[in-house]
Amino acid sequence: MSSKITRRNFLKTSGAAGIGLTVLTGSGAAIGKNTKRKIRIRPIIMNSHGGRPGGRNELGERGNQAAWSILTGGGLALDAVEKCANTIEVDPNDSSVGYGGLPNEAGVVQLDATIFDAKNYEFGAVGALENIKTPSSIARLVMERTDHIMLVGVGALNFAKMHGYKEENLLTESSRKRWLSWKENLSDKDDRFPPKKKDIGGDNEDNFYEMYDEADIAPDGRIHGTVNCLSVDTNGDIAGITTTSGLSYKIPGRLGDSPIIGAGLYGDNNVGAAGATGRGEEVIKTCGSFMVVEFMRQGMSPQEACEAICQRIIDNYGGKVNFSDKFVALNMEGELGCASIRGRKGSEPQIAYIEDGENKQYKGTILMEI
Ligand code: GLY
Repeated sequence: MSSKITRRNFLKTSGAAGIGLTVLTGSGAAIGKNTKRKIRIRPIIMNSHGGRPGGRNELGERGNQAAWSILTGGGLALDAVEKCANTIEVDPNDSSVGYGGLPNEAGVVQLDATIFDAKNYEFGAVGALENIKTPSSIARLVMERTDHIMLVGVGALNFAKMHGYKEENLLTESSRKRWLSWKENLSDKDDRFPPKKKDIGGDNEDNFYEMYDEADIAPDGRIHGTVNCLSVDTNGDIAGITTTSGLSYKIPGRLGDSPIIGAGLYGDNNVGAAGATGRGEEVIKTCGSFMVVEFMRQGMSPQEACEAICQRIIDNYGGKVNFSDKFVALNMEGELGCASIRGRKGSEPQIAYIEDGENKQYKGTILMEI
């Protein structure tokens, strides 16, 4: 092997030869070749923190704005989605990701994240990562600085520290009080009970749920909140991130869909990208985001593809589901899609996005009205 060919590049080159063979003998779809695809030169950044119809999610907009200046400067979609995700991850008031994320049943915040760079067909992920505010940046380091794709738990933390990240307490007072309240109200057969006067950090319970999309709220009131960020840059390359603190009060070590490539996130420079929020177990079982991208490859619009995966999940249970998932998608032409399994009419899921410098919201659909 020449000294200029690294082990990683050698593996990638060998893999590319295999993919080329698939194209020749397969259906003829443009897999792994960037030459034929249309190049979009108007950049776009979007994230799944779109707020409820009639409202907005200020943090989702702030994430997009931070990313937009990268895109307008000719920067990479990969840098844009990292900036968008980091902006949301470090905000202590968002209890669905990063710092301030709701903890597991032991009161420990464990974060999951995935990233992809479709230009180079690279992916990275971390799972059950503790004490680091920006798991999406650690996923990027896994992608760019190792020959692996996923690191979890203590291994992921040690890797982050090796790259200069400092451990920090991710449990905010608000999240700690909310967790304690959950624990004290869990059962009347254990030794804990709540105070006579409710104390959940000064937040009004209704306002707390308002910050979430309905798809993010489990039937028992726990939260699946997650952020998906997707972007196409001026070179016509697409990148994405999914980041989350996962299901609130989960069993320690539980991984949801967010760190699983093809489940909580997938992307392909010939087609587009997709991400998921909501009940992660169903998204893993259906390889949800991968399916959305494959549906788009077969000719569906992003909106049709998001609805098709929601319908697939509903059909898997004979039409009877009491949970929800939300899918978002973006194709290489900058078309958006967004759909949830369940929700109230008037409470459709939304995407926050910026195109042509303007903050906008894309209103999705609900397949099962409740
Ligand atoms: N979709 C986030 C989770 O279930 O962990």
